[in-house]
Amino acid sequence: MKKVTAIYPGSFDPPTNGHLDLIARGSKIFDELVVAILRNPEKAPLFNVSERLRMLEAMTEDFKNVRVDSFDGLTVDYAEKIEAHAVLRGIRALSDYEYELQMALMNRKLRPEVETVFMMPAEKYSYLSSRLVREVAQLGGSVKDLVPEMVEQRLREKLDPAIKLASARPPKTRKSK
Ligand code: PNS
Repeated sequence: MKKVTAIYPGSFDPPTNGHLDLIARGSKIFDELVVAILRNPEKAPLFNVSERLRMLEAMTEDFKNVRVDSFDGLTVDYAEKIEAHAVLRGIRALSDYEYELQMALMNRKLRPEVETVFMMPAEKYSYLSSRLVREVAQLGGSVKDLVPEMVEQRLREKLDPAIKLASARPPKTRKSK
């Protein structure tokens, strides 16, 4: 039987529990799922591509049929390059639909052989986006339960570099008197 590969393209800046939920769903229906981070020179991201790649790799290490990669150019060209058959995208609410429909139809126009498959993440993530996570974290709010603990820690380090410095330093030993 034919092996079906899908790509899950996005910015993932940062990856969230909503992304992870969709990856888990996608890994169940596709033989192989490639999480594909767009290298977008026009956007100034909070996390660079290798930081996002490392976070996503750690988040998906238990999924044996999932791998993480980055790409530039058109999503459908990348899909063609790695011989993927489908593009997976998440739809959280009706407001996502218009933009996603436009993208799916444009992608179909560019490469009709690549299908777009939409999946819904769990309802508890229906309001969750990387943009809101960045905003809340930057303004000092808690993003617990919205992103994996490791991403929460990376956000803290990114927004308060003193934290990274402190954890990199060896713990102080008390001088014996
Ligand atoms: O996580 P995002 O930012 O919603 O992902 C958007 C993404 C990366 C899927 C979209 O911007 C994209 O496919 N960009 C690559 C360029 C491209 O193929 N453009 C035409 C799509 S219609």
